[in-house]
Amino acid sequence: MTFSKTILITGGAGFIGSHVVRRFVNNYPNYHIINLDKLTYAGNLENIKDIEHQPNYSFERADITELEQIRQLFQQYQFDAVIHLAAESHVDRSITDPLIFVKTNVLGTGTLLQVAKENWKDNYEDKRFYHVSTDEVYGSLGDEGFFTEETPYDPRSPYSASKASSDHLVRAFYHTYHLPVVLSNCSNNYGSFHFPEKLIPLFINNIRLMKPLPVYGQGVNVRDWLWVEDHASAIDVIFHKGRVGETYNIGGHNEWKNIDLVKLLCRLMDEKLDRPAGTSEQLITYVKDRAGHDMRYAIDATKLKEELGWMPSLQFEEGLSKTIDWYLSNQTWLDNVTSGAYQKYYEEQYQIA
Ligand code: NAD
Ligand code: DAU
Repeated sequence: MTFSKTILITGGAGFIGSHVVRRFVNNYPNYHIINLDKLTYAGNLENIKDIEHQPNYSFERADITELEQIRQLFQQYQFDAVIHLAAESHVDRSITDPLIFVKTNVLGTGTLLQVAKENWKDNYEDKRFYHVSTDEVYGSLGDEGFFTEETPYDPRSPYSASKASSDHLVRAFYHTYHLPVVLSNCSNNYGSFHFPEKLIPLFINNIRLMKPLPVYGQGVNVRDWLWVEDHASAIDVIFHKGRVGETYNIGGHNEWKNIDLVKLLCRLMDEKLDRPAGTSEQLITYVKDRAGHDMRYAIDATKLKEELGWMPSLQFEEGLSKTIDWYLSNQTWLDNVTSGAYQKYYEEQYQIA
């Protein structure tokens, strides 16, 4: 079969990556999509089971920090483009174990950039390196204001510092070598296949099991939530139409104080589980705050809207309701990822390339 483009997507067995892979495989049958993932604790091929037999999809288990593995895959597939999502992504883990974040997010991104440059340097035409990043690189807001593409970087956790470093490397490869890059910085995502260490899926799982809901500090921190499929649609638009060398912020103007979000989640779950009103709220437990906890994130996505016409499709309460329904209909997935049984399976089933 002949394809019009061969695209490497990294981190496609993770939460957002699985939605991006699914969208590209289904919407672009003339693209060959190669999903490269190390399958860490956060990577799970169950997340993309529905598309694994599509003729335009391939999976490669590999590590983005391993230069020779990446060189060999570029040699084998002759990629035209990279959409780079693979990362260590959880802030709390970065506080307890920062060096794996430096390795994966900084060295891993540097490795992909270097190999893309080696392969493409004689002809950059129709090539593209898309780096997926986060709003956390901009730091923490007070009560007012929004992050724009011009906001100076001020990362404050090992996670956000490692993502900021990776963004700087991507821009350095653009300015120094003219590598055709594009970047986006997105706010907090929610939706299906979200690993239950992050706030929303963790709390859905705990409510289902009647376990405590550990709210950090006073629960007053604010996050700007976007449905993961809207993030995937923004990535699609930016990949195809974004200008080389540019950065686009992605967000849905949907700010929630943590405690208000948790109470909404409790109310919706009580209704769906047919429990008396107020049952889940009793599980709320205030715990020691996250070290260096950023107070507020809020994205101004005007550039993306005005330049590329992207808008989020879903209102939050509808999205949250759909998300809860998904987890309640996929309780085996939740049990598997929380038991760790699937990791053992992958260790036995797959060898590093
Ligand atoms: P995730 O933790 O769910 O998935 C990360 C994926 O990367 C996993 O499949 C994992 O196996 C893979 N991976 C990790 N180390 C690897 C390595 N060395 N080599 C190859 N693969 C490796 O993360 P996510 O929440 O889906 O985030 C994806 C990207 O989007 C990240 O770059 C993150 O910084 C960014 N982002 C996330 C959010 C969010 O709300 N989750 C918001 C904005 C941006
Ligand atoms: O803003 C984008 C970022 O959003 C992404 O770059 C990260 O990869 C992603 O993990 C997410 O980071 P956050 O730290 O904002 O997400 P998390 O779900 O961990 O936490 C959301 C808020 O909820 C935050 O203020 C901390 C709080 N929280 C979180 C957990 C896990 C709690 O109060 N209790 C918890 O148990």
